[in-house]
Amino acid sequence: MQKKRVLSGIRATGRLHLGNYLGAIKGMIALQENPEYETLYMVADLHSINTPYDTKTFQSDVRGVVLDYLSAGLNPSKSTIFIQSQVHEHVELSYLFSSVLTVARMLHLPTYKDKLKENPENANMAMLYYPVLMAADILIYKADAVPVGDDQLPHLEVAREVARKMNEKYGTDFPEPVQFKTEGHSVPSLTGKGKMSKSVDGSYINLTDDLDAIKGKLASTPTDSGRGDSLPVTGGVISLLKLVELFQNLEKRRTYERQYREEGIRYKELKEELAKAIYRELEPIQKRRTELEKDESYIENVLKEGEEKARSIAGETLREVKEKMGLI
Ligand code: TRP
Repeated sequence: MQKKRVLSGIRATGRLHLGNYLGAIKGMIALQENPEYETLYMVADLHSINTPYDTKTFQSDVRGVVLDYLSAGLNPSKSTIFIQSQVHEHVELSYLFSSVLTVARMLHLPTYKDKLKENPENANMAMLYYPVLMAADILIYKADAVPVGDDQLPHLEVAREVARKMNEKYGTDFPEPVQFKTEGHSVPSLTGKGKMSKSVDGSYINLTDDLDAIKGKLASTPTDSGRGDSLPVTGGVISLLKLVELFQNLEKRRTYERQYREEGIRYKELKEELAKAIYRELEPIQKRRTELEKDESYIENVLKEGEEKARSIAGETLREVKEKMGLI
């Protein structure tokens, strides 16, 4: 049976947190363990340079994401793990793809429009080009399934359009990739507003946080008197209850909900127990990370092997496209 090919990537804008872990990485691992899929996972470093970043720490930031991937359970003997910019073919293919897309189409994408509104200085050419490169990331492996969040759907639509247009115009055989919904969970922010996010201070728990750090962060989550006729619908209390559900269990959440309406919740105890439960999940990941960090050549070997595997597929696709486009 022909395996379905899966490609996904995460931008390298800092260390991974619990939200990435439950929202994306656990899904990536589930696909890796499923024999029906061939999985390729990259660190999208080229997609990270369109917003301000530190050139001095960037190499170690990118390596840090790879370490997070590996310690969280991505397995190089099952998945191809690589760094986007090391497979030069992506960029070359993206230029060829740009010939079938109009500037107007790119200008209308919500991500670009948001950036333009936020800060016109940040709306650079690379930002406009983002979806074209993403289409190349996916189609260069002829991937059918892309595990990404709903925020990436407009970009995936561009990839589908590129596939159709290239196939019509040049007779290529690109599949139209579809979103693969993994069982990711949305992890609430510790601030009580929105989702856990790298860009909001005090909202997240890093995969490398120890028990004290987790306790400290939970301590700042805003709560209330712990008691009332009905539970609040938003805010810190709801974030805590959602975390209890994710890291302890639903029954525990229901117990707290009942306590809220009856004798009251003691948040200090809730936070203690929750911190321990979160740490229990992170501890093995951190142990693996410490082991992996000791062996510097290990990561380099994983990446070298990943690059080779990725390039052998990518090179073939690029060659085929250049041939069909009359470039060779
Ligand atoms: N745009 C994705 C994000 O910000 C990262 C990404 C780059 C990606 N290329 C990709 C995801 C290809 C899936 C497939 O999360």
